[in-house]
Amino acid sequence: MNKIPNVVVVGIGAVGVEMIRCLKQRKFPFAKLSIFARTARDTDIDGDTYSIQAIDPKGFEGIDIALFAGTEGEKGAAVTYADEAIKRGAVVIDNGADFRLKDEVPLVVPEVNKESIRGHKGLIANPNCTTIQMVVALAQIQKRFKLEQIILTSFQATSGAGKKASQRLWDETSEIAEANRGKNLDALDKNASGDSDIFAGQIAFNVIPKIGGFSRDNYTSEELKTVDETHKIFADPSIKITSTCVRVPVFTSHCEAVYFKTKKDASLEDISRALKESEGVVFYEDSQSFALPLEAEGKDEVFVGRLRRDSFNKSSFWLWCVSDNLRKGAALNAVQIAENLLVL
Ligand SMILES: NC(=O)c1ccc[n+]([C@@H]2O[C@H](COP(=O)([O-])OP(=O)(O)OC[C@H]3O[C@@H](n4cnc5c(N)ncnc54)[C@H](OP(=O)(O)O)[C@@H]3O)[C@@H](O)[C@H]2O)c1
Repeated sequence: MNKIPNVVVVGIGAVGVEMIRCLKQRKFPFAKLSIFARTARDTDIDGDTYSIQAIDPKGFEGIDIALFAGTEGEKGAAVTYADEAIKRGAVVIDNGADFRLKDEVPLVVPEVNKESIRGHKGLIANPNCTTIQMVVALAQIQKRFKLEQIILTSFQATSGAGKKASQRLWDETSEIAEANRGKNLDALDKNASGDSDIFAGQIAFNVIPKIGGFSRDNYTSEELKTVDETHKIFADPSIKITSTCVRVPVFTSHCEAVYFKTKKDASLEDISRALKESEGVVFYEDSQSFALPLEAEGKDEVFVGRLRRDSFNKSSFWLWCVSDNLRKGAALNAVQIAENLLVL
């Protein structure tokens, strides 16, 4: 792109707000920055007031880069408006799942496959947050030793389901704490009174092994994203991937216990070296060290620790991986794609 672009952020929920932060913190060059959402209003982000416009196809006139962070699905922002933006000359970078697996749409994690941006036809997709941090952690291992198998268990923050979902965690936790003030542990009532329209059950003081709807072979849609998207990003459908995705009562940062086996023989030292030399990764060389979700919040990197061998199977390992789902898992990755677009 050989001009300073006009940029729009579509949607100003959990991801949209983080996108504004990333653009500002990274001094992304733009001639004009607009924000579109369903309704017009002013909003305050970190002390600055931004004017939000109600979305309208004509609003995309003159826009060069459109960062979509609206809701997914049939009536979602990207399905309704991405084409409107593209036909007016914008390149769309979409955070949702609607277009990720389409052949003509590059699915990009810059540390892994930024070269695929070149082939875009107006739309580039940002992968799912759970997939992004896993492929950043495994990219060098895939490159050097080829992955035979990945078994993932994720522990996912509520903000991964949007702003309302984190509000639900806060409301349930506050209600239970308030109702139990002064009681001892044996007398606690741990149940919230509200319904569970956002999660498959109460999220406060609980964990829920279901993210998204049930789909093929009784995996959830979130679990299948970690399979299909990883295959596409690594351009390697031969990797045997299986996962269980769990929602936990944490506001921000997803944690992942990742088990993997390599095709080529690899020692613990080989894997350790690959992780040390991985772009976007903070690797804890001491296998007894690890990151916690609160430490990763607001940070850009993927934190990898607790690397250890499977004592019974060769070239097989476990690691613990933590990253801010709203930053590297969504907003930051999208802004990095936009940065790459500028230099293409
Ligand atoms: N949260 C994560 O960790 C994460 C990670 C990766 C990808 N994603 C994806 O990123 C997208 C945004 O997620 P989020 O968590 O930020 O959601 P969110 O907190 O629910 O916010 C959604 C935003 O989209 C706007 N919006 C909804 N429908 C729209 C439409 N038809 N036209 C224009 N704007 C519309 C809403 O506008 P109003 O404010 O006016 O209602 C709101 O500002 C989703 O596709 C999600 O799957 C999220």
